[in-house]
Amino acid sequence: MTPISTNLIDAVRTIPDYPKPGVMFRDITTLLGNARAFRRTVDELVQPWAGAKIDKVAGIEARGFIVGGAVAHQLSAGFVPIRKKGKLPHQTVRMAYALEYGQDEMEMHVDAVHAGERVLLVDDLIATGGTAEGAVKLLRQIGAIVEAACFIVDLPELGGAEKLRAMGVPVRTLMSFE
Ligand code: PRP
Ligand code: HPA
Repeated sequence: MTPISTNLIDAVRTIPDYPKPGVMFRDITTLLGNARAFRRTVDELVQPWAGAKIDKVAGIEARGFIVGGAVAHQLSAGFVPIRKKGKLPHQTVRMAYALEYGQDEMEMHVDAVHAGERVLLVDDLIATGGTAEGAVKLLRQIGAIVEAACFIVDLPELGGAEKLRAMGVPVRTLMSFE
């Protein structure tokens, strides 16, 4: 976890037993709907890359589109959507990724990132890291340099951030829930 922000953490709502009994769901819609919290979140996420050369921000469907779009704007970078399979109209590259139960596939347009471009990966939350791991593999498959990955929320007990670091990807998160 990078800096702890009590104000920002207070803007995240927790829904017990969603989507199933025993799960404490961290709902960022309350943070997104709070203008000051959303602005601070984006400012804090991009802070290490202010003035750095990031060519593209890749956002993971669906909540990563919201955060990633704002981050791309802030960094004057392009935005690349990484989508669940079957949603993108042009030729794609595809990667399988692990879900909590089972697996799925994600896609990106084949020409969305060029070999050697520096990419910042963005999503709202990292849990097991299966989704972000798939996105890193997808980006690397077409020769992108994954500079780092950033997330608003980390669920450290599920080990996702450590999994990405073990792949050589620096990880920035703004808060964690045990
Ligand atoms: C959530 C979240 C991340 C992913 C994290 O998305 O927004 O993308 O799960 O989980 P992981 O680290 O265990 O892979 P979800 O799959 O619920 O999709 P959605 O954003 O389309 O609802
Ligand atoms: N919130 C949002 N997305 C998630 C969560 C959560 O608590 N756990 C896994 N994906």
